[in-house]
Amino acid sequence: MKGLILSGGKGTRLYPLTYTRAKQLIPVANKPVLVRVIESIRDAGVTDIGIVVGDTAQEIKDVLNSRTDLGVNLTYIPQDRPAGLAHAVKISREFIGDERFVMFLGDNVIEGGITSLIQDFATNDWNSQIVLKEVPIAEAKSYGVAVLNPDGSVNQLIEKPPQPPSNLALVGIYMFDHHVFEAVDSIQPSKRNELEITDAIQWLIDNEYRVYPHVHQGWWIDTGKHVDMLQANDYVLDEIEPSVSADAIIENSELDRRVSVEAGAQIINSVIRGPSIIGSNAVIKDTYIGPYTSIYHGVEIEGCEIEHSIILENSKVKNLDMRLQDSLIGRDAEVGSDQIGKPRALKLYLGDYSKVWVPK
Ligand code: DAU
Repeated sequence: MKGLILSGGKGTRLYPLTYTRAKQLIPVANKPVLVRVIESIRDAGVTDIGIVVGDTAQEIKDVLNSRTDLGVNLTYIPQDRPAGLAHAVKISREFIGDERFVMFLGDNVIEGGITSLIQDFATNDWNSQIVLKEVPIAEAKSYGVAVLNPDGSVNQLIEKPPQPPSNLALVGIYMFDHHVFEAVDSIQPSKRNELEITDAIQWLIDNEYRVYPHVHQGWWIDTGKHVDMLQANDYVLDEIEPSVSADAIIENSELDRRVSVEAGAQIINSVIRGPSIIGSNAVIKDTYIGPYTSIYHGVEIEGCEIEHSIILENSKVKNLDMRLQDSLIGRDAEVGSDQIGKPRALKLYLGDYSKVWVPK
């Protein structure tokens, strides 16, 4: 069995964070979503993995090449434009050969891993297995949606229907045998001019191939939007085993049990409530960090209260006289105030599509 991860595309819904970064590289609980995806496939025993990459190929390679700990063989498959998930399958034909494979979207995070799903697929003669998740009906229009027959088999799959006929969304994890290549060669581009994997699976159903639907019971996040990143961060922080590096410096501070601190971090005169994670070489001084916060490596925080937020690498947050919460701060950003004085004014250098909320 092989693995295929889709990590091309543009990520417009995560602007401005994705102007300078592939959306799959944004970390959840201090680990890029793409690395979490690779680890889930590896933990299920699949180590030969193809990664479809687009405009952000170099950045993805740089991050993955620096991760010698992953224990997988990676093959990069360039896609010249984001022409659809089925197009990504089409260009991966040579890498996959005739093997069965699992395809995982590089921006999806799922509870509990995929080991049992892969075992089920490996021990059955299904041509494909899809993963479904019940979502609130109002949200179903953002996903591919499945309609099941009374016997539980798949009747129909529709990509982002304006009026969803069901609340079963397609999770971004699919398993196929080689018949999928015939399917992707047989379908036409959709209205948004993409070759849709949903249409390819519908083709398999219409041609009487066996497509088995697994309804996932745990949480699942498609990290396409800011609120989803924070939600995924909450879920993962709830799951990780906390540990405090022996190299961390902790002085005159209070850390509760569910706090992880990475190597070289310094925590001075501060209170940290878990679940939360403080990245390597971060410096936290005279600060309160509340639950569900991920501080990435090299961040400096002084004189602040921060809760339920993600702060990416090398950013500085200093001397805020109100709490920062529900926030996502990108890399190398600076947030704060000079010494309090008059006149008090807001000074902003913001990128395109930034959002700022200032309480009255
Ligand atoms: O997350 C689940 C949903 O993913 C499914 O419910 C939908 O049926 C499926 O079409 C897909 O919808 P999205 O709109 O979320 O797909 P997105 O364009 O965000 O792409 C998903 C991943 O695949 C992302 O990591 C980028 C990558 N990708 C996307 C396209 C269109 C590629 O590598 N190549 C592409 O051509």
